[in-house]
Parts: sequence; structure tokens; C-alpha cells
Amino acid sequence: MFIMIIDWKKIASERYDEIKSLISGLKDSKIKLVVILVWNNPSSLRYIRQKEKWASYVWIGFELIHLDENVSENELFSIIERENKNSETTWILVQIPLPKHIDEKKVINLINPLKDVDWFTQINQWKVLIWDSTWLLPCTPAWVMDMLKYQKIDLVWKVVTVIWKSNIVWKPLTMLLINSSATVISCNSKTKDLSKFTKMSDIVILAAWKPWLLTLEMINNDTIVIDVWFTVVDWKIYGDANYNEIESNWNMITPVPWGVWLLTVVNLMNNVYKSYLLQNN
Ligand code: GUN
Repeated sequence: MFIMIIDWKKIASERYDEIKSLISGLKDSKIKLVVILVWNNPSSLRYIRQKEKWASYVWIGFELIHLDENVSENELFSIIERENKNSETTWILVQIPLPKHIDEKKVINLINPLKDVDWFTQINQWKVLIWDSTWLLPCTPAWVMDMLKYQKIDLVWKVVTVIWKSNIVWKPLTMLLINSSATVISCNSKTKDLSKFTKMSDIVILAAWKPWLLTLEMINNDTIVIDVWFTVVDWKIYGDANYNEIESNWNMITPVPWGVWLLTVVNLMNNVYKSYLLQNN
């Protein structure tokens, strides 16, 4: 059996250098990404440190607004409104998930759609739904699609299961897969017998934040597994797929944490560049 672990470090560094040279060609040197983090979730902190590191590598200004997890909704709203108006803030990113007392949808939709580098606001998601490819795409779904393209995986006739429903990965990704003529199965926390669907799939894409949800007996030998995120539990990193168990069995899997997620940050920087062009056209 052909075993392939998709290692993206080299591709990521090439992409960063490409974006760096595009950004260095821009006239405006005062472009800045403002990231708002509302709590000390260790996974979110890791994500943000990567964003900060790579923003500075490609010469994008970066500011972290780190708020206490007890911050009120109103306080957060007023910070977003302030940054919407701030002419020195080119893009705003509110790190998801937010604590339960805060309405995530309301927060996201308060961001000025032109400064919404994640492409999460309703107006921007609608553009994904109607498939206007000239606009940006949310970073993670865009990268999953890029990755399939890099591996020359044609989605026509393929059965793809996407596990878990979230606005930031599942919905836009499902749209992108449908647009590529894949047959898409959408599973969620209420799905009875998840393995029934994963077993019939050519590709399983996980974005569930559930450590080791997918095990070896739930898939076939040739299933392609794309594990999108990771969870930190007791300072250890876990993917949604049991990587230890499957590494020597599955034929293609993205490693965690250096797989999809690493490249999601590349696409974030790419969106920064593309949204600069949209804002300045
Ligand atoms: N949480 C996990 N991934 C992301 C992302 O790409 N953007 C934001 N805002 N939050 C996230």
C-alpha cells in the first residue's frame, strides 16, 4: 500500500516568500492586522502566535488586543467599532471560539466586511455561497481545496464526508466541494453511527475539535484524511484523527499540527494581500 503523509512545511515556506515579495511591492507600508483574543484558551494562543510570527515575516503590522474572558459583549462591540473606524487598522480578526456569554455571530457581523480578513461576516459568506471567485475565501476551507488540488485529487465522483458543522469551516467548505462536483456528506454531533458514512467516503475532512474522534476502524485503507484543527489537552496536542494509530495504515493523511493549520495561516496572509487590493481598487 502506498502511504503518504502530507508534509507542508516546504510548500508553506515557498508560499510565504511569494506573499512577502507581493506585499513588499505595495505602496502602503502601514498595513496592519488587528487580532482580538478574548480568553486564554491554549489552542487559540498557539494559533495567534503563529499568525503574529508569519505576519511579521511577510512585513504586515500586527497588533494583538488580548481581553479578559469576562469582558462584556458591549465592551467587545465597542472595541470592534473603534477598530472599524480606525484608519490605521486594515484588517480585523476576532479569534474563534469566544466564551459562551458572547454572541459569536453578532461579534463577527459587526466587523466591517472590507476589513474581515477571515471572510466570516454574513455578507462575505454569502459571496462564497453564490460562488463569486473574484472575492476572498475563508482561509481554512480555501486551503483544504488548495491541498486537494496540489495532490491532483479530482473531486468529481468522489464521496467526501465533512465532520462537524461550524460556520467558519463546514459551511464554506461544503459549498466549495459542491462547486467542484464532489458528492458531499455532512455529519454533525447528532449523526448516528458516524463510521457508516466515513466508511463509504473517499475523503474524510475533520474540523470537530474532538481529540481522536476518527479511528482506524472507521475508514478504509485508501481513505484520504484531512485533519483540520488541533486541540491542546494538558499541554499535549491532539488532532481529530488518531494520528498515532493511523500513520502506518492510511494512505494519505495531513499531520497535526503541521498540516492544514500551518497553511491556513499562509492563506490568511494571502487574504491580507488580496483584501488590500480590493480595498484600494
Ligand atoms: N479559530 C480557528 N481558526 C480560526 C481562523 O482561521 N480565524 C479565526 N478568527 N478564528 C479561528
